[in-house]
Amino acid sequence: MTAIELKEKYLQFFEKNGHTIIKSASLVPENDPTVLFTTAGMHPLVPFLLGETHPDGNKLVNVQKCIRTGDIDEVGDDTHLTFFEMLGNWSMGDYFKERAIEYSHEFLTSKDYLNLSVDRIGITVFAGDDDAPFDQDSYDKWTSLGISAERIAKMGKSDNWWGPAGQTGPCGPDTEMFYWAGESDPPRDFDPADPAWVEIWNDVFMEYNKLEDGRYEQLSKRNVDTGMGVERVTAILQGKDSVYDTELFHPIFEVLKRVSTTTHPRQHRSGRIVAEHLRSAVFLLADGISPSNVDQGYVLRRLIRRAIREGRRLGIVGDFTTTVAEVVIAEYHGFYNELKHQESFILDELRKEENQFSLTLEKGIKEFDKVIQSIPDGCSTKRFSGRKAFFLYETYGFPLELTKELAGEKGFEVDVKQFDKAYQQHQKRSREGAEKKFKGGLADHSEATTQLHTATHLLHKALRIVLGDHVGQKGSNITTDRLRFDFSHPQKVTTEELAKVEDIVNDEIRRNSPVIKEEMTVSEAKNSGAIGLFEERYGERVSVYSIGDFSKEICGGPHVESSGDLGLFKISKEESSSKGVRRIKAVLTQCKSG
Ligand code: ALA
Repeated sequence: MTAIELKEKYLQFFEKNGHTIIKSASLVPENDPTVLFTTAGMHPLVPFLLGETHPDGNKLVNVQKCIRTGDIDEVGDDTHLTFFEMLGNWSMGDYFKERAIEYSHEFLTSKDYLNLSVDRIGITVFAGDDDAPFDQDSYDKWTSLGISAERIAKMGKSDNWWGPAGQTGPCGPDTEMFYWAGESDPPRDFDPADPAWVEIWNDVFMEYNKLEDGRYEQLSKRNVDTGMGVERVTAILQGKDSVYDTELFHPIFEVLKRVSTTTHPRQHRSGRIVAEHLRSAVFLLADGISPSNVDQGYVLRRLIRRAIREGRRLGIVGDFTTTVAEVVIAEYHGFYNELKHQESFILDELRKEENQFSLTLEKGIKEFDKVIQSIPDGCSTKRFSGRKAFFLYETYGFPLELTKELAGEKGFEVDVKQFDKAYQQHQKRSREGAEKKFKGGLADHSEATTQLHTATHLLHKALRIVLGDHVGQKGSNITTDRLRFDFSHPQKVTTEELAKVEDIVNDEIRRNSPVIKEEMTVSEAKNSGAIGLFEERYGERVSVYSIGDFSKEICGGPHVESSGDLGLFKISKEESSSKGVRRIKAVLTQCKSG
């Protein structure tokens, strides 16, 4: 069975059983500052698992894109991935343990679905502890379905408890299903620690909400959340030892064979890293992330730069990331149409990142070697200076993790504390610079500049509507007669797009919405969906300005009282500001209506 067939069967099975199919949410969690990425199918559903009503009903099923970076260093073995797809079904206050286990059992063993032999299945259930009792109901259900007592292991919280995805949130005991992937017949007794027993599915029974003080409170509605990893189960169904042996990676390895000097990239750790990391990068780019030095952008940068460096180890000399990306897009766009919609953004961003990094990679490696050579032989502490690691980061764009990896290969350890110190000093210097600029920009509170400030918020939002959520503010400058706004966007904004932006802004002006200022913490601002420059301001209270329900943005102000005070908005110029950054200048003409 192919991965696509597996996904289709799963969706069909649960749809037939009254579940609504929902689309995969973005890899970037909306309104959840506690985690960088969507790590499981339940994650985007947290508000509904906590009691809100989902518009598509209380029984849902989907295939969710996920990123987990915790095991990034393991990528290259047979199983670890940073990006993966997760199959999941949910009951929000509808069925609970019994029905969930019946569904799992039927899907795994029925001839119409996965047709796995019950003889090769092992189960774990929660053994109970001070927070919650032994999961007798799940145990009894599995035995009633023909699983023998020897095949059910009772485990503690570290194995049979799931969630919350962040620090707080819905969680509860789970029951996990394992499959005997060994070559011999399965032993009578199930031992989850034996690697031939591979975990294939997890049914979580959410009964609790973990609070900030660490207590578990009973949820008003009990939920079911399940998760099955597509890549891993595809490999099992195909009798393969490794996810890289399935059709999912095959086309990528074909490209790598063509562009590298390696004949078997699939068996080469570097080949696997390149394939895996670039697949993740393409999905992150499709969700609007650009490589940068903060948050999700930094992870993306690490993935791309590590892939480029591993590519050199495969003997690849020229640019290759876009060739791999094209294959990923071709393979996956049937399920994820955002890959096609964002194709030019994905390829442009990769091209830029690869150009930038390739220019400095060789020089950086030389610099790295110099540092290593300057450390006298026989030093007892094999320490690589954190200041030098910061220099490599700042000058050659070497993510810290890359330097750590290079150093590790030579038996050295990077002084991370010293790196952090150098990094913080640098941040402080640039923050002081930014604050000076910020003050300068907002010193003028005349009526004209105040109006242009509000117009800038409308423009920012309208650009995101017309061009996409990758648009972020890169700079803003206001004089009494015009605004200037710099923003991330890879290509020229077309005349039609500019006209749309103008129309949207003018519609909002006509709507005469109130402009409201609220004070809150940065995380509250993020939670409320506000956009703006969050970096470097964690922990502070900030002002958030909303214009009706159209725009919400962190800003120091000042602003007009309602959008109708602005007159007519007109874009006077669109041009390039720097690589990947466009600049718009716009004016307001007063049109007093009587
Ligand atoms: N959320 C559960 C998991 O990721 C199902 O395993």
